[in-house]
Amino acid sequence: MLREVTATRYVTPLREGGSLPGIVEADDLGTYVMKFTGAGQGRKTLVAEVICGELGRRLGLRVPELVTIELDPVIGLAEPDQEVQELLKASGGLNLGMDYLPGSLGFDPLAYEVGAAEAGRVVWFDALINNVDRSWRNPNMLVWHGDLWLIDHGATMIWHHNWPGAEASAAKPYNASDHVLAPFAPDIAAAAAELA
Ligand SMILES: Nc1ncnc2c1ncn2[C@@H]1O[C@H](COP(=O)(O)OP(=O)(O)O)[C@@H](O)[C@H]1O
Ligand SMILES: [Mg+2]
Repeated sequence: MLREVTATRYVTPLREGGSLPGIVEADDLGTYVMKFTGAGQGRKTLVAEVICGELGRRLGLRVPELVTIELDPVIGLAEPDQEVQELLKASGGLNLGMDYLPGSLGFDPLAYEVGAAEAGRVVWFDALINNVDRSWRNPNMLVWHGDLWLIDHGATMIWHHNWPGAEASAAKPYNASDHVLAPFAPDIAAAAAELA
């Protein structure tokens, strides 16, 4: 079960990603990156975020806390941006939130060294969940207080968008050539022995 909070203020949109998540404040005085059920990507990407994010956490990988955020669309009335206002209006009720890591930096493979063991655990995990979104163009990892944190597991479990082809899709080997941690000599065998 995820902890439940209620949004009290929409702060600002995050435009780096594709789904227009927003930073919101909530009634527990926390700050969250909110993913909206009304976004074009649809609810299945949020289902994937929850399942894969929590799976990663249980495997000992660092994933910021996930919560459900109750949204009263009235919050959007004061929003000057039309696109944001539409998104808030379409997302009344339960949405997904991830604890906001203040001062974190987007992962840069030229600026941050990852050990073979940790790289192996991340690549192994991404193969398990069929994550197609951890490339150097779009690493979906943050560096915070000197540690690597995994975010954005929306583009995973690709098979759950097409159940008739799911078995064949799951049996296909994972192509890690584009993975942002591929250059760090990921020790996949050690990760598999530890995590499988
Ligand atoms: N928990 C977080 N703390 C700080 N910044 C975050 C967090 N989650 C996401 N971001 C920032 O917001 C951007 C978009 O978030 P992401 O989850 O990747 O959404 P999208 O599905 O749109 O790609 C990230 O690239 C990152 O810069
Ligand atoms: Mg992203």
